[in-house]
Amino acid sequence: MSTVKFFYGDDLPLEMHKVRIVQKLDLKPIEHRLAAITEAGNNTFLLKNRDVFMDMLTDSGVNAMSDQQMAAMMQADDSYAGSETFTRLSVKIEEIFGKKFFLPAHQGRACENIISQAFVTPGSVVPMNYHFTTTKAHITLNGGTVEEIPIPEAFHLTSTYPFKGNMDIAKLKAVIKKYGVEKIAFVRLEAGANLIGGQPFSLENMSEIRQVCDEFGLMFVLDASLLADNLYFIKEREETCRELSIREITRKIADLTDIIYFSARKLGCARGGVICTNNEEAFVKMRELVPLYEGFLTYGGMSVREMEAIAVGLEETMDEDMINQGPQFIAFMTEELQKMGVPVVTPPGGLGCHVNAMEFLPHIPQNQYPAGALAAALYLVSGVRGMERGTMSEQRDEDGNEPLANVELLRLAMPRRVFTLSQVKYAIDRLCWLFENRKLVGGLTFVEEPKILRFFFGKLATVSDWQSKLVEQFRNDLGDSL
Ligand code: F0G
Repeated sequence: MSTVKFFYGDDLPLEMHKVRIVQKLDLKPIEHRLAAITEAGNNTFLLKNRDVFMDMLTDSGVNAMSDQQMAAMMQADDSYAGSETFTRLSVKIEEIFGKKFFLPAHQGRACENIISQAFVTPGSVVPMNYHFTTTKAHITLNGGTVEEIPIPEAFHLTSTYPFKGNMDIAKLKAVIKKYGVEKIAFVRLEAGANLIGGQPFSLENMSEIRQVCDEFGLMFVLDASLLADNLYFIKEREETCRELSIREITRKIADLTDIIYFSARKLGCARGGVICTNNEEAFVKMRELVPLYEGFLTYGGMSVREMEAIAVGLEETMDEDMINQGPQFIAFMTEELQKMGVPVVTPPGGLGCHVNAMEFLPHIPQNQYPAGALAAALYLVSGVRGMERGTMSEQRDEDGNEPLANVELLRLAMPRRVFTLSQVKYAIDRLCWLFENRKLVGGLTFVEEPKILRFFFGKLATVSDWQSKLVEQFRNDLGDSL
């Protein structure tokens, strides 16, 4: 993709695949969308897909699969124990990551459950570049706490710093000193740090973390769910890796870790979860939990068809033409929005385009969920479904206080190889229109608030009649357009 230069005008991301199966989409009129978002309690998680035009909620389990993946699914070996499919996936994992022990689980958070139950004890601490919602929930459920130690650049939403997902090494040492080595369950690094905008770490940072782990005898765990994007960014942005193949970079990363786990709903473009390691003791400790929570050791709650698709998907991830599509579409969207003055997270990361809701809607206080309000407003004016990543996604503490998130983002995920560039342009157009009319957007307040992971099922009401005013303005400006 990056080697194709256009002769006239600006370069555009050029897809290195063609579409052979399609799904019909429907774009409902804005009045219908108003009813839909109201019924969903202004929570985009609760919208029905039939009311959604572009589903940019997540890249999880919704990436386009390849013909090779679909073909492999037909050869799955369905058996409770000893399945050939398990062997094939195991061999592929060892080939790519160099890890000989593989534990299957039904998705990423199931891996987190197993790892947390095995290694997190009451009072223990897990230092990490940044948390992910389900990761933190599993660690705290087991009595541990999370210590987030990203580099300061992580919170500079507009930046040119290439590796905002890096861990602060000085802070890592300080955390170890503060709590004592015996309290550290393990050190966790997240590829393509999700909640700060899909921002990558560098290979150099990883080597430094490894050195610290060696110095203190700590286990280094990599959450590789968003590794595909991170690999692309290392290849593009890290000088010393420019001449390395994606496969070589992957192996260098893997060799620095003790345990790798990932959601195969993201990495591998299928549905499932993988834990792998060369540490036999850790493997044995985790192994007993798999049949208890997931299923027998040769499927771990996954369908064998999906396991075949993961094996092929992992191999395809070693192809730069495959992994660059997401980041390049995201960069296109981010840069076009930036040109129009819309506040977006830069440099563009992986996973999706991230809009800075605090700057987009400075008049909405954080306890009225600016990112949630922006998600609801964008759906209303476009049928595009994004996801709130801000205070709504935080958990109340034991005393019921609501921690305010460090950042308020609207995430517009870019499932890999799913959308066309004209669809992306439509999303940009509507977001720019909303930016012009941002003063009309108001806040939200919870009317139903679950205790755990409240953003999934919580329902909210608007604090004023702002949504009908937005509909009125839309009709004024766009006439009878959908
Ligand atoms: N780790 C990271 C970094 C993730 O982004 C996710 C999921 C998980 C773990 C959990 O994996 O969903 O398979 O259980 N992220 C999804 C998202 C849900 O939309 O960002 P899972």
